[in-house]
Amino acid sequence: MERKDNQSPQGGTAWILVEFLEVAITSVVFLKGVYPLGAFERRRYMNLVVHRARHPQLKDYIHSAVWGLLPFIQKGLVDRVAVIFFNTDNNPVERFMFKLAVNQSYGSKVEEGELEFSLRSFLIKLSVSEPLTRILAHGCRWEITAYFRSLPEASASKDAELWIPTETKQWEQPPLITPIKSMSSEPLCIQLYLEHPKSD
Ligand SMILES: *[C@@H]1O[C@H](CO)[C@@H](O)[C@H](O)[C@H]1NC(C)=O
Repeated sequence: MERKDNQSPQGGTAWILVEFLEVAITSVVFLKGVYPLGAFERRRYMNLVVHRARHPQLKDYIHSAVWGLLPFIQKGLVDRVAVIFFNTDNNPVERFMFKLAVNQSYGSKVEEGELEFSLRSFLIKLSVSEPLTRILAHGCRWEITAYFRSLPEASASKDAELWIPTETKQWEQPPLITPIKSMSSEPLCIQLYLEHPKSD
């Protein structure tokens, strides 16, 4: 995939970020073990071996969910993207939060080498992170949810409708937060942390 040239630093970075999110979210789902191994295949990404969904529905779901966010990420509207896992009672048990920030006033050329170095370290960390390698039950339901910083303008509302928060049940107590990894490489900042209920 290439289409990064002739764009504003934010435009190009948003594109890199979305591609990264697709890989990172696939890794989360792969590592949590909710699908059989055969649902994934190996591929290379930034000189790393990563997993890609092989199962068409799974692949389409992840792909369309993250690429649907591109215009909003470009405008700096997306605050967090979450991968939420549910138990059989449909209560969320783990919420992996990617907190995003693209510096909207950054005007210089993006050092793509530096950015890729940071993103690569981020992905490497996932596969050795304790919260991510703690396997959940096979067939556990999960979903991708985006949290907006502010509501998109009316002109964008057709696409944004897809992203109106769902009726996801909330926890009674504020969740525990376990930081997993963060990176900062201008103009991009990403933090990944796990939110989970206090007692289980
Ligand atoms: C965003 O970029 C501008 C211009 O490069 C810089 O001055 C500013 O400190 C950056 N803001 C953040 C929050 O990093």
